Amino acid sequence: MASSPPAIPNRIVREMATPSGPRAPRADGHGSPHRMNLNECPYPPSPVAVRAMRAACETVNRYPDPSWGALVAAVSARTGIAASRIVVGNGSDELIVNAGRVALEPGDEVVVPVPSFPGYNKCAALFGARVVAVPVRDDGAVDVDAMLAATGPRTRLVFAATPNNPTGAMLPAADVARLAAAVPSSALLVIDEAYHEFAIHAGGDEHLPALARRDGPWASFRTLSKAYGLAGIRVGYCLAGSDDLAQAFQKVRAPFNVNAVAQAGALAAWDDLDHVHGILDATRVERERIAAGLRELGCEPFPSVANFVTARTPRAAAEVVAGLETRGVLISRLMAPGFEQYIRVTVGLPEDTDAVLDGLADLLGRR
Ligand SMILES: Cc1ncc(COP(=O)(O)O)c(C=O)c1O
Repeated sequence: MASSPPAIPNRIVREMATPSGPRAPRADGHGSPHRMNLNECPYPPSPVAVRAMRAACETVNRYPDPSWGALVAAVSARTGIAASRIVVGNGSDELIVNAGRVALEPGDEVVVPVPSFPGYNKCAALFGARVVAVPVRDDGAVDVDAMLAATGPRTRLVFAATPNNPTGAMLPAADVARLAAAVPSSALLVIDEAYHEFAIHAGGDEHLPALARRDGPWASFRTLSKAYGLAGIRVGYCLAGSDDLAQAFQKVRAPFNVNAVAQAGALAAWDDLDHVHGILDATRVERERIAAGLRELGCEPFPSVANFVTARTPRAAAEVVAGLETRGVLISRLMAPGFEQYIRVTVGLPEDTDAVLDGLADLLGRR
């Protein structure tokens, strides 16, 4: 008897693992849980942005601006990148997938640091490409020499996050310059700067000048999900190295990919830098409290400049995560091989810090 055709026609998609996805917080009798698992901003967005989003709701009978004109003009004015080289995404998540559409064909290779953002692996899988995983350095920063050594004739895409999620370490401009110079021009180099504002606040370098000297294609991806506190409206942007590359990102996206409320909120938030600085200052204070508390409890945190701290714990991370969850504290663990004892704690409000350190003290027997 002829076997029936598969339910999913595309073989690559059929064979991909079903994503476990970010876990939605439970309402479980602890009141609102301490959400320290998704690298969200614990503070509400700028009130100016909230007003702009409310106003935008009045006209959502119309499609949004398909070329995000006002937002692109604002991003161009601050970054110095021409509007023709800026592409806005439905979060940088969308841009990461679209980097695959732009760069990859089945059988190609994608060089990614490990541990790093899981979206890079999904991007590779979706287009039938092979991931070449390169361990980060001991300090958690992307290992530029090893990344370059892993880059070969089949490499079409290289992802490097700075600061890297989940380790929190950033690269100096000299390292980005080396990547920019030595990644072959047959590959798209993506510098994922989702935590850019945190890096600059910590005294880190601007990477656009180094990238501008690259001969081959490059893009920097940034987002309003983190320092701007706008994860819920999904706005990220790509600063592309050339008009041609920006056009490629335009070709592969949906026509109205960023909704009108999100565009209005992002534009208003972009100008409220006092609000962003307040978030960055408060994040630094709580990040240092978390790192110090973790060390006191016998954990070994990576030095992080971002809105999260990753640390090795004396116990299996799965047990620690589950134990904290029963105490109403959500954190995450690293899924990369060799990191079974590592947890990642997103920086939250002062009371979130208290709750996570309290729960850990119980679980690690440090009372
Ligand atoms: C390194 C990195 N890149 C990209 C993203 C995706 O951000 P968004 O899609 O919210 O812009 C994240 C989110 O946590 C991240 O950590």
